[in-house]
Amino acid sequence: MSASKRIVLSSDHAAIELRQAVAGHIQAQGWEAVDIGPTTPESTHYPDRGAEAARMVASGECALGIVLCGTGQGIMMAANKVPGIRCGVCSDTFSAKMIRAHNDANMISLGARVLGEGLALEIVDAFLSTEFEGGRHATRVDMIKALEA
Ligand code: RB5
Repeated sequence: MSASKRIVLSSDHAAIELRQAVAGHIQAQGWEAVDIGPTTPESTHYPDRGAEAARMVASGECALGIVLCGTGQGIMMAANKVPGIRCGVCSDTFSAKMIRAHNDANMISLGARVLGEGLALEIVDAFLSTEFEGGRHATRVDMIKALEA
């Protein structure tokens, strides 16, 4: 499958079950889910987990990334430290659409201790079914990119 259909998923120990549910959900929709774990419940460090996924998106190996931790916040912060990554925590479908449409986000972060599985899957669907609108939003995304330079 081409990289354009490949989505990396990563989490810490707090979000293993939800990550696996999201992986199965997107795989059933025709995406290639590259689930980099973990699979066992030992405590792990969300900065490592977020950075590994983010590097796979920044390199072009995967088109998009989905990261998860207890709140979604810590792993999002780590992912955003990798140049080229635009990742936001989403706990509602409107935000999930808008970070694609206006911010051209290439990663989304979810909080497994915040969201039920049903809402989490709807948020993922909203993110994946929305395209970047470009135009005036491209100017602003370019300004974000310039901050990395
Ligand atoms: C782990 O206990 C927890 O701190 C982590 O999953 C996450 O919520 C951090 O932002």
